[in-house]
Amino acid sequence: MTPSIPFIDLKAQSNQIRDKINSRITQVIDHGGFILGPEVQELEDRLAAYSGAKHAISCANGTDALQLILMAEGIGPGDVVFVPAMTFVATVEVVPLLGATPFFVDVLPDTFNIDPKSLEQAIVDAKAQGLKPRAVIAVDLFGQPADYVAVNQLAQENGLVVIADAAQSFGGSSNGEKTGRLAQWTSTSFFPAKPLGCYGDGGAIFTDDAAQAELIKSLRVHGKGSHKYENVRIGINSRLDTLQAAILIEKLAIFESELQARQEIAGYYSERLQEYVDVPFVKENNMSAWAQYTLLCREREQLQERLKEKGIPTVCYYPIALHEQKGYLSYPCVSSGLKVSQMLAKQVISLPMHPYLDRKVQDYIIDTVIDSL
Ligand SMILES: Cc1ncc(COP(=O)(O)O)c(C=O)c1O
Repeated sequence: MTPSIPFIDLKAQSNQIRDKINSRITQVIDHGGFILGPEVQELEDRLAAYSGAKHAISCANGTDALQLILMAEGIGPGDVVFVPAMTFVATVEVVPLLGATPFFVDVLPDTFNIDPKSLEQAIVDAKAQGLKPRAVIAVDLFGQPADYVAVNQLAQENGLVVIADAAQSFGGSSNGEKTGRLAQWTSTSFFPAKPLGCYGDGGAIFTDDAAQAELIKSLRVHGKGSHKYENVRIGINSRLDTLQAAILIEKLAIFESELQARQEIAGYYSERLQEYVDVPFVKENNMSAWAQYTLLCREREQLQERLKEKGIPTVCYYPIALHEQKGYLSYPCVSSGLKVSQMLAKQVISLPMHPYLDRKVQDYIIDTVIDSL
């Protein structure tokens, strides 16, 4: 009989902290502050302390976190926002939602993150087309921070706002700084499958700027002023539920040890698989949060099928590059092309990855991958 292996094992985690979570949930039900209750502020304080960012503001999900940042920057019609073509659709969809134009940029073949050279070319292209470059959203794909030294430099030279989409990289770091401090703005997601996930939807925004943090707090509650029935700007409804904040407080308490477990699991995968297949590349001085452990494989469909037969689930994130998605065909692309994004869309395949993957199961996965190649 083939074993049943979860792609991400949320049960193993909740079994560890079930009592603490239950008691936190009971406390919320008892005090009844379901919207912006005390746990929300407590979580925000803890997130800021953990990341090193001066301000953490929670919201309803990681997509809203991106949208709220763009709204805070007043980005809208006529503005261009540079985005990688290889990412989850949420990174890009918020741009046209606000009437702005997404401009697709290629990614690097090793880290899979935005290619600074491609970004530089895209800025030149956009200006030549008479467009108005305003911002860049860099994505930390699969958990590894993008090259913010290069992105921040280019942004500074061209007056762009930098947004780090850290939906997959909360807990990761670069040059000793955690996500949340690597760009002017950072967004993250607490979708259940993320490194730090809640039991529903959730997200957060990180900034060092106190005025911008206050602006986000207004935007997430219908553009409120000094009280919720004074509306000083156009906003949205995007608050993190108190119950989710309460759950996240307990999950954050064990997050560092989970992150350590992810490092060990990824290290062992790479140690055993590197002579057979292209394993993930982590740049020197970067630490990935290992949201995913992703291989590059030309025959990934066959590999996926063989692993499935042996009870091993895999996922291909993302099988169609965004500039080739029907809803996004009309948006501009960098003139040097998006070849790496197209190649990755056809060749990436992610193996089961979570902090509770034991060595025996990992060996079974690794042996099966090697046999299947
Ligand atoms: C790169 C990236 N950006 C944005 C999001 C959006 O997050 P959410 O699902 O919480 O809206 C996700 C997660 O799904 C993501 O992976």
